[in-house]
Amino acid sequence: MKIIVLNGSPRPNGNTAAMVAAFKEGALEKGHEVEVFNTAQMKINGCLACEYCHTKGEGKCIQQDDMQKVYPVLAEAEMIVLASPVYYHTFSGQLLCAINRIYALDKPARLKKAAMLLSSGSDGVYGGAQYTYDNSFLDYLKLEDMGVIRAFGKQNKSEETLEACRALGRSL
Ligand SMILES: Cc1cc2nc3c(=O)[nH]c(=O)nc-3n(C[C@H](O)[C@H](O)[C@H](O)COP(=O)(O)O)c2cc1C
Repeated sequence: MKIIVLNGSPRPNGNTAAMVAAFKEGALEKGHEVEVFNTAQMKINGCLACEYCHTKGEGKCIQQDDMQKVYPVLAEAEMIVLASPVYYHTFSGQLLCAINRIYALDKPARLKKAAMLLSSGSDGVYGGAQYTYDNSFLDYLKLEDMGVIRAFGKQNKSEETLEACRALGRSL
């Protein structure tokens, strides 16, 4: 299966990146195709709400930024993984911009499954991200939840956390 990972962390060697790498390792072992987009290293603007995509654009976004690299992969993917550090109890702004831009595709045609990887400083800070995941991805986009892995404090980059991410990848 084709899997798209949207990573919202600006830290290339950070905690989220380690979770993504472990997840990818597990998924590759099972023969899945995994494409990771590091949204914080890309130029992805917020949605303009111009509705070009839903009118003249016929599903294409008018903004010619790096989201144009994401759209074709998103259109082919059967699974999406949202990976992010928790910022103010939700996803990073960079990931939120990419999520908002999914609007152009309405429901990505082949998407059926989702998972979420979150890293934070403290425990109990996942409510915002979980709410978006549950309501926008599982309920609105009608995706099947394949698992959520959260790590805070010392759990970040721990072998236990990374093995859980690998196991999630292998379980698909
Ligand atoms: C702007 C900003 C906001 C943050 N907000 C929270 C927060 O609300 N709760 C929390 O526990 N940690 C918060 N953190 C800490 C990060 O979530 C934590 O350091 C995380 O492990 C970073 O992941 P990364 O290494 O993948 O970037 C924040 C960090 C930054 C830079």
